[in-house]
Amino acid sequence: MKVLAIESSCDDTSIAIVDSFRKIRHIQTINHQKFHKDFGGVVPEMAARQHLDIMDMILKKISSRQLKTVDCIAATYGPGLIGGLIVGSSIAKGIAIALNKPLIPINHLQAHLLSPRMIAKINFPYLCLLVSGGNTAIVLIETEKKFKILGSTIDDSAGECFDKVAKFMGLSYPGGPALEKLAIGGDANAFILPKPLTKTKNCNFSFSGLKTSAIKIIGSHENTKVFQKDFAASFQKSISNILEIKISNAIDLLDKRNIKVKDFSICGGVAANKIINKDLKAFVNKKKMNFYQVPLSLFTDNAAMIGWNALELAKTMSLKKNNYSIRPTPNILINESFIK
Ligand code: KG4
Repeated sequence: MKVLAIESSCDDTSIAIVDSFRKIRHIQTINHQKFHKDFGGVVPEMAARQHLDIMDMILKKISSRQLKTVDCIAATYGPGLIGGLIVGSSIAKGIAIALNKPLIPINHLQAHLLSPRMIAKINFPYLCLLVSGGNTAIVLIETEKKFKILGSTIDDSAGECFDKVAKFMGLSYPGGPALEKLAIGGDANAFILPKPLTKTKNCNFSFSGLKTSAIKIIGSHENTKVFQKDFAASFQKSISNILEIKISNAIDLLDKRNIKVKDFSICGGVAANKIINKDLKAFVNKKKMNFYQVPLSLFTDNAAMIGWNALELAKTMSLKKNNYSIRPTPNILINESFIK
């Protein structure tokens, strides 16, 4: 089975064709970051206009012969910025009607969580840490439709914490990659930062206290290169430690409930951080679990994971050719599926 998938929930316009043999037959993703850079974050209206401009340009790269071979169309319906969601959903709907193929609406967060199964034959249930600009959560993936959130952030996400602290240091947006680069060669033990909520034996996160404390330290030090490097390394290490403690709590919780989980994966933009990845891989392996690293191009926003999620769902439902309904919804959560 083959699916044509569209992703447009934030600042990446992406189109892919994926098949059920895990083969990505076509993918093109264009990031809009350069348009938003000067504003310190994504400007929703500009993002929507970019999606509209870019989408038909990258759609034209797919031949009509290729289009005719797909079995269904998929698009992200949420969560995300409403303008982009409307652009992607409308284009997907138009293609589905023109080709008389079923349309499958996809929950972007669930697509992230299922993406490790696109790179390896991982069995349910498995554990996934979702760390992005908008979310931080530890989720047990029970089936392609059933997700159990073991814990999530009660305030900022890890990515948001990276971005806000980096902004305060005068670094460019997005802050995570800039801070990671700065941290190279810095002393990770130079500053002791708080690890909020880590004394509580649960899987919830809190990053706002860490952010406030980081901003106070930055404000009270001379902004030398040595300070910046040591601080960035210490800050990055603190986030890594927090994530590790919470994953440990999740593993203990599952153990207590007698739920056997062998596999672990990490997804979302912060998963690009090499130190966090290295620390978490070592930790998870110590717990005798497999660590699956999704390639960079597949854990940031992309249409291949949307297509893969559609293929996973297609196995569990009967597809109706005249079902073109898709309702762009900015605030859906994990598990709140639009599919009935
Ligand atoms: O999943 P994602 O690409 O998109 C949204 O959530 O919208 O995540 C973006 C987040 C940003 O906060 C960015 O600073 C963070 O991922 N990020 C990183 C790194 N690369 C991206 N954080 C830490 N280290 C990185 N190398």
